[in-house]
Amino acid sequence: MATRSRALHRLLLRPIFSLILIFVFFTAVLHYFIEPSNEDLSITTEEPSATAEEPGIDNDVYDNPPTFDACDVGCSDNDEKFITYLPHSQFNNQRIELENAILVAYFTNRTLIVPPLVLGHISAWSTFDKLYSFLSVRLHKNNCDPNDLDTRRRGMHRTPHCSTWTMLNWQEVYNLTAIQQEERIRMITAPTFKVEWIKKSLKLTDDDIKYFKDDTLYSMMVYDDPQSITPLGKYQQRADISDFKSIPQKLIYFNSLFGGSRVLTELEEHQNFRRRILRHFVFIYPKVMSTANKIIAALGGAKSYIGIHVRVSDGPFKRGAPQIVESIVRNLSNLNSTFDEAGSLRSRKCQHDSGPINDKVIYMATDIANSRRTKEYDLLYKNFPCILTLSDFDPLLEDLTSIVNKWDNMKMYKFLLPFVDVIVSAKGGAFVGTSHSTFTRYARQLNKMFLLDEIK
Ligand SMILES: *[C@@H]1O[C@H](CO)[C@@H](O)[C@H](O)[C@H]1NC(C)=O
Ligand SMILES: *[C@@H]1O[C@H](CO)[C@@H](O)[C@H](O)[C@H]1NC(C)=O
Ligand SMILES: *[C@@H]1O[C@H](CO)[C@@H](O)[C@H](O)[C@H]1NC(C)=O
Ligand SMILES: *[C@@H]1O[C@H](CO)[C@@H](O)[C@H](O)[C@H]1NC(C)=O
Repeated sequence: MATRSRALHRLLLRPIFSLILIFVFFTAVLHYFIEPSNEDLSITTEEPSATAEEPGIDNDVYDNPPTFDACDVGCSDNDEKFITYLPHSQFNNQRIELENAILVAYFTNRTLIVPPLVLGHISAWSTFDKLYSFLSVRLHKNNCDPNDLDTRRRGMHRTPHCSTWTMLNWQEVYNLTAIQQEERIRMITAPTFKVEWIKKSLKLTDDDIKYFKDDTLYSMMVYDDPQSITPLGKYQQRADISDFKSIPQKLIYFNSLFGGSRVLTELEEHQNFRRRILRHFVFIYPKVMSTANKIIAALGGAKSYIGIHVRVSDGPFKRGAPQIVESIVRNLSNLNSTFDEAGSLRSRKCQHDSGPINDKVIYMATDIANSRRTKEYDLLYKNFPCILTLSDFDPLLEDLTSIVNKWDNMKMYKFLLPFVDVIVSAKGGAFVGTSHSTFTRYARQLNKMFLLDEIK
C-alpha cells in the first residue's frame, strides 16, 4: 500500500512534465509516418508494375476458394462496380482497412472485393507497386521447408519464411455473410492478391481499373458529409463520396485504406451503419470465442474485471514505454469506484507471489512473453498486484493447439492467441489501453458493445 501511494504521489507531481513528454512523443510518432508531399493525388490507370513472376510460383492455391455469390443479394447487372485495396501490417491494421473498405463500398454502392487476411509476417505500408509486388509475388509458400526456421529473412525484397505467416479468408474470421444480408452490401472474397484473378473473374480490362497509387500512407481522407469542415489532420487530401461516385471505371483499386479516422462517418445514418458493421466483428473462427469465454469465466465472468492493453514492445511504443505505462497506471487509478458500488468490479482475492491479496482483478493483453519480469511493467505490477495475462491460463488454451489451417497446414495456435486476447480484454467491465494502438482501438469498440449488450 505504501509503495502504491508513493508511486501515485510521484505521478501526481509530474503530470505536466508527463503531458509534455507524451505530446512530444506522439507528435514524433505522427511525423514518423508523414512525408511532406505537395503533389496531387496520383490517380493512374496503368497496371501495377509487378516484378516478373518467379517461374513455377503460384500463389492461388486455395483449393476451393469459398467465394461469395455476388448476386445473392440481388445485383447481376452490367452496371455493377467494384472496389478493392491492398492490405498491410498486422491483423488490427488489416481489420481497420476492412472496416473502411466496407464503408466506402456502402457509400459508393460498389461491390467490395475482399482481399485475403494475412496473419503473422506481412509487409508494412509501402507504395502501391512495392506493396502489390510483395503481396502478389513475394508472399508465397512454395518450396518452403518447414524445418528451416530462419526467421531473419525479413523486408520487402525477401520471401518471408513460411513458418512466420499464414493466410485466411476474412469470411472465415468474421461473419461477412451476415453483413451482406443485413446491409445489402455486396462482397466477393478474393483467394489471391493478384489483379489477374480480378480481371479474369470479373472480365475486366486494364482500362476498367482506376488505381490510387498514393505516395504517402495518410494520403486521402474520405468525408461522408459534403458540408463537413472537419480538418484533414495528418491526411493530405480530402475526398468526398461524390468524387468516387463520378469515377467511371468499373474497379477502384486503393493502395492502403488504413487509418482510424480515414473514413468519416459524421452523418448519423452512417454512424449507425458503422456500429452495425462492427457488431459483426467478433470471431467466428473455430474455438476462438469459446476459449476466450473459458478464460473470462475463470476471471470471474464478463465485466467483473478490468481489461487493459499495454503495448511497449515495438517501434515508437518501445521508445515511449515509460509514458505509456504511467498513463495507464493513472487511468486505472482514476477508474471510478462507481464500478465497485455497482458491484461487478469489487476488489477480490487474487493469488500473488506473497500470498492472497485483495485488489481489483486486471486482465492485461500484452505482446511480451514474460510480463512479470519486464522492467517496463514494474510500475504497473507495483500498483496493481492482481494482473493476469493470457499465459496464466495456459491449460484453457488447449482447444487451440489442434487447429490447423487447411490451406498451408500451419498450426494456428500462435496466430489465434491475439484474437483470444482482444476478446478477453474487451469483455472487462472497463477497458484501458495504449493510445494510438490499433489493438486498443478494436478492444475499445468491442468493449462498448459488450457493455451495452449489443454483442454477446
Ligand atoms: C447499386 O448497384 C447495383 C448493382 O450494380 C445496382 O443494381 C443498383 O441499381 C445500384 N443502386 C443505386 C441506388 O444506384
Ligand atoms: C452468419 O450469419 C448468418 C445470418 O445472420 C447466420 O445464418 C449464420 O449462422 C452465421 N454464421 C456463423 C458461422 O455464425
Ligand atoms: C469519480 O467519481 C467522483 C464522484 O463520485 C467524481 O467527482 C470524479 O470526477 C470521478 N472521476 C472520474 C475519473 O470519473
Ligand atoms: C484514460 O481515461 C480517459 C478518460 O476516461 C480517456 O479519455 C483516455 O482515453 C484514457 N486513456 C487510456 C490510455 O486509456
